[in-house]
Amino acid sequence: MFKMKRICHLIFRLLFLLDGGVWSLRNLSITVPRAVYSGEGQSALLQCSYDLEGAPLYSIRWYRAETEFYRYVPREMPPSMVFPLPGASVDLDQSDRNQVRIVNMNRQLSGDYQCEVSADAPLFHTDIRSAPLTVVDPPFRAPQISISEDVYSRGDVLRANCSVDESYPVPNITWIIDDHKVAETVSWTSELDFKERSAFSQIAISIEDAEPYRMGITYTSSSLNRVYHNPYYDEKKLNHDVIQYTLVPPPTGQFSLECASTIYDLYSRKSEPVYIRMADAPYPAPRSRSVTGDESSGVRRSSKALLTLVSAITSVYLTL
Ligand SMILES: *[C@@H]1O[C@H](CO)[C@@H](O)[C@H](O)[C@H]1NC(C)=O
Ligand SMILES: *[C@@H]1O[C@H](CO)[C@@H](O)[C@H](O)[C@H]1NC(C)=O
Ligand SMILES: *[C@@H]1O[C@H](CO)[C@@H](O)[C@H](O)[C@H]1NC(C)=O
Repeated sequence: MFKMKRICHLIFRLLFLLDGGVWSLRNLSITVPRAVYSGEGQSALLQCSYDLEGAPLYSIRWYRAETEFYRYVPREMPPSMVFPLPGASVDLDQSDRNQVRIVNMNRQLSGDYQCEVSADAPLFHTDIRSAPLTVVDPPFRAPQISISEDVYSRGDVLRANCSVDESYPVPNITWIIDDHKVAETVSWTSELDFKERSAFSQIAISIEDAEPYRMGITYTSSSLNRVYHNPYYDEKKLNHDVIQYTLVPPPTGQFSLECASTIYDLYSRKSEPVYIRMADAPYPAPRSRSVTGDESSGVRRSSKALLTLVSAITSVYLTL
């Protein structure tokens, strides 16, 4: 038993060595921004850190989607070597054995980036790390909400759409009720396709009857309602899943609905809020118990307006 273990251990060590193991190349890690904007002057700094434990460096190679675009070989003169990138270039002044800066990003450069480090003779230990980067062309405008009606009764179903202009990648769309995130449409991004696409999310909110012990907005579930949408495959069908949501309106009988489009941590924009009112009396009404409570405040508003008008006329009269 003991012998077996030792043999296994030896074989393991041998394989590790043959595989170009870790004995003189440690802690290789890559740091790539998850997303950057596209455009002239937009750049991305990719970093690669490693510990050769005193062994000399043979080369650093950077790849985008398996194609090498930058190589650093300290023995060569000059040590840096650049291979063409579609539409962009490498800033040689800011590229060396630890980093590479790509300038003039465009969305065709989205994809997986890899850093490969090789130690020099005699062992040539080599290791590689990969990380994704997306070059973003954001939507031109803020997302827009369209809604069937803005006055509801309890028992109604409110249907709303949030639409987002063409962008790359397709943003996630979040629904926000009275400043709470309630639901989200998550979009897929295929790095093989660099097209800009528009997106939308649909929500159906069932407005429930309030019960005295369930006042205020209550949510159907504690976690976010999520719908996963792949814009690359069901674009033609356009049969989006509609997010189903149930809420008990707050005692004021009014709530706001907003949507936001987000692209990673880089971009986030909210729509104008839409205010939704209940046609029936708030339950229970804050002070008075009848519908006339609302109407009388309307009357009060108009008499106030009249008063302002009268005082304006008076002041005009007085200056004359
Ligand atoms: C490198 O890795 C070792 C373990 O493999 C760890 O103890 C050490 O803190 C790491 N060093 C750095 C600088 O990350
Ligand atoms: C939401 O969008 C769908 C699909 O474009 C459309 O059929 C529906 O009428 C829209 N609803 C609203 C409330 O705008
Ligand atoms: C969308 O949301 C999902 C889940 O939270 C996340 O993994 C993904 O990175 C987001 N995509 C974008 C484009 O922000």
